[in-house]
Amino acid sequence: MEKVLELDSVVKRFGETVVLRGVSLTLERHEVVCLIGASGSGKSTLLRCANLLETIDGGTISLFGQSLLDERIDPDLVRRHIGMVFQSFNLFPHLSVLENILVGPVHALKRRRSEVRDEALSLLERIGLRERADDFPDRLSGGQQQRVAIVRSLAMQPSLLLLDEVTSALDPTLVGEVLDLLRDLARHGTTMLIATHEMNFARDVAHQVAYLDNGVLVEQGTPEQVFTNPQHESTRAFLERVR
Ligand SMILES: Nc1ncnc2c1ncn2[C@@H]1O[C@H](COP(=O)(O)OP(=O)(O)O)[C@@H](O)[C@H]1O
Ligand SMILES: [Mg+2]
Repeated sequence: MEKVLELDSVVKRFGETVVLRGVSLTLERHEVVCLIGASGSGKSTLLRCANLLETIDGGTISLFGQSLLDERIDPDLVRRHIGMVFQSFNLFPHLSVLENILVGPVHALKRRRSEVRDEALSLLERIGLRERADDFPDRLSGGQQQRVAIVRSLAMQPSLLLLDEVTSALDPTLVGEVLDLLRDLARHGTTMLIATHEMNFARDVAHQVAYLDNGVLVEQGTPEQVFTNPQHESTRAFLERVR
């Protein structure tokens, strides 16, 4: 197994507040890890640290065995390997759906536009939105926009995708289509770290579930272990609250 991402004893503070208290977590290639936990437990902060959007105050983070704390590391290069999708579907409003997908590969990766265009169109085909390629994002539903945001990330061919509650801002009727896309990606071996409140989805799709409580990774295991036989009282209490 190849280790894609490895967090070891990561500590993160904002001023006096300790938000991550020595979190260790490993993601192998093709693995899907779902990060669960109450609001404010530190899920977003963990994902942002992994993507170098935040600096850390202790511990180490490595990508393919290389420490991200190494000063010689180019953060832009790291972010090319790590795609991130947020709760708010932040497509560029002034660009068409197709241009949203092309902009990264063409400008950041300097790839040939004609070549990337074909790939982008097949990604749109895959999510059933090929005929919407020339529309602007505001013509699409929230679920469609979020699916475009996800394939926009994929167009950069990242080694790892971080997803931060990508269905939380959606109308409940639109959640399913986004989760279905993530299921499809998981089936195709996309390595993903997913912060989510969708417990049924996590149970279905995750290889590992990690429960974060107030900055502590209290428990990690297979969905079966964590959901059916949680070892810690706080995990049990959390699962009861969300069920
Ligand atoms: N930029 C920031 N400055 C100060 N505190 C922050 C900042 N970002 C997050 N926090 C705090 O860190 C804690 C964890 O937040 P977050 O990672 O967003 O949790 P979650 O995503 O699980 O809801 C919260 O108490 C939050 O208020
Ligand atoms: Mg969050």
